Amino acid sequence: MIDTLYGELSDGAIGVFDSGVGGLTCVKELIRLMPQEDIVYLGDTARVPYGTRSRDTIVRYAKQDIAFMEKHKVKLLLVACGTVSSVISSGNIFEGTGINCYSGVIIPACDAACEATRNKKIGVIATPATIRSGRYEFEIKRQCPDISVYSNPCPLLVPLAENGYTERGCAPAEFFVKEYLTPLKEQGIDTLIMGCTHYPLFEEVISDFMGEGVKLISSSGVTAEMTFEALKAQHALKPETHKGKVELYCTDSVQLFKENVSRFLGEAECEIAQCKL
Ligand code: DGL
Repeated sequence: MIDTLYGELSDGAIGVFDSGVGGLTCVKELIRLMPQEDIVYLGDTARVPYGTRSRDTIVRYAKQDIAFMEKHKVKLLLVACGTVSSVISSGNIFEGTGINCYSGVIIPACDAACEATRNKKIGVIATPATIRSGRYEFEIKRQCPDISVYSNPCPLLVPLAENGYTERGCAPAEFFVKEYLTPLKEQGIDTLIMGCTHYPLFEEVISDFMGEGVKLISSSGVTAEMTFEALKAQHALKPETHKGKVELYCTDSVQLFKENVSRFLGEAECEIAQCKL
């Protein structure tokens, strides 16, 4: 399993990658919790979405993303992509890479959902590849066999998010949230895992549709919290006097990426550049 933060920490930045801009929901939380930490982010915007591709293609892309992070000598790596986290089911992909501390988003999200549910009915929304992998369901059942899990893939939410159609009142966002979430609402879930890191952008629309009684779990948010707690416990946080540097890389147009970055991160100071994988 890659979904547990373990391994030896060195002194470098926290590496975070995603297929596109979705992993910035994780970066936002990391900056809020640990402004002293340096962060290197990669969004493979030239090839997003990953979630509708085959397993082999996703693994090939993930290896290139990891190689990029290796060059940046990150002290730990967060796979802030539900799709990659679910497709890579062992830590083997990191063997021989020099990255020996890493986590995906599946286990932190399942931990939080199992803790949150009262009626033992958890919903999971994610990309088609993630849902096909069955990883969220597997992990929830492993922890709590008596919990029922209801999953639905939401293939069109990622393109909507990449193009800025996420806000309350935005007709396409409201239409597709209703379309994808109606079957889960009908099952009476009380907890919903947003199992793709793009989905927290739809949080208001999702929460309006599901109603107050349903607790939303952001896979990226809880992974950032878990990382903070783990670094704190290992006394591996940078001193609070250090001002963290945030470097963001994309594989497609910087201009387009910049627009998304400001939607995700607001005023946070960061350097943005294009890179090749
Ligand atoms: N944000 C990603 C995830 O968490 C990937 C979306 C995609 O590329 O399809 O699954």
